[in-house]
Amino acid sequence: MTKKLALVTGGVGGIGSAICAELAQKGYSVLAGYHPAEEENAKKRLAEWQAAGVDINIISGDVASFASCEQMAATIREKHGTVQALVNCAGITRDKTLKKMTEADWNAVLNVDLNSLFNVTKQFIDGMTDAGFGRVVSISSVNGKKGQFGQTNYSAAKAGVHGFTMALAQETARKGVTVNSVSPGYVETAMTKAIPQDISDQIVAQIPMGRMAQPEEIAYVVGVLCDDRAGYITGTNISVNGGLFISF
Ligand code: CAA
Repeated sequence: MTKKLALVTGGVGGIGSAICAELAQKGYSVLAGYHPAEEENAKKRLAEWQAAGVDINIISGDVASFASCEQMAATIREKHGTVQALVNCAGITRDKTLKKMTEADWNAVLNVDLNSLFNVTKQFIDGMTDAGFGRVVSISSVNGKKGQFGQTNYSAAKAGVHGFTMALAQETARKGVTVNSVSPGYVETAMTKAIPQDISDQIVAQIPMGRMAQPEEIAYVVGVLCDDRAGYITGTNISVNGGLFISF
């Protein structure tokens, strides 16, 4: 049986690379998407994956640009085939109070963290519904659910991720395509390392688990949602936040 193909945007980043490893371990052939400006880091990750003998390749594309995503999708179709699982994981922060935030800070985050869902998912969703199977998982955030001081842009984008998810889930449910989001809390990656130490310490002190998550703890849940057996879970949001925001 041929392996299913997964695309993980932001696939060479902290959470993304853990998701790639998890999906490869579950039997997917995986493509790790990366921004053209991250070529060096992407090649480094690829060398590590090749050395480890895992089935993960890399593909360049700017998720903030529809045209770039069209190009990326054409390359994937030509070289690798149809994508059965899409993980929208690419994301950035530009943390500032609204008072200090510029239009560029706002647009950068909305483009990469929310508009990307349209730009990327649009390329692959018809292939999934035509085939009668598909998994779309988008990475949201605890801060899309509770809001965060200094993140009007990010909190708005991440809340939007779930709106997209709930709507698309209804459009594809009859075609065997599930659409879900995962909301990580604070995870040990370069993104959280950029938070000033005193603020980071205050945040960790509010987490009932008393620590940040490891990327693998997020990847595990994404892996479950991409499993063949997860076919009845759709339109939902799963929190992986160590108890930082408890809701139902
Ligand atoms: N609630 C209320 N007031 C707060 C506050 C809070 N959480 N944090 C700071 N303040 C107050 C300060 O006490 C200070 O008050 P005074 O002016 O009275 O002294 C004031 O707000 C500071 O305002 P500034 O505009 O000067 O803020 P700043 O420039 O010092 O810092 C910031 C702003 C860069 C946003 C900084 O607060 C910060 O980095 N916060 C962390 C944001 C965060 O959690 N980012 C998550 C990144 S990781 C991620 O996003 C992944 C994920 O999904 C979880």
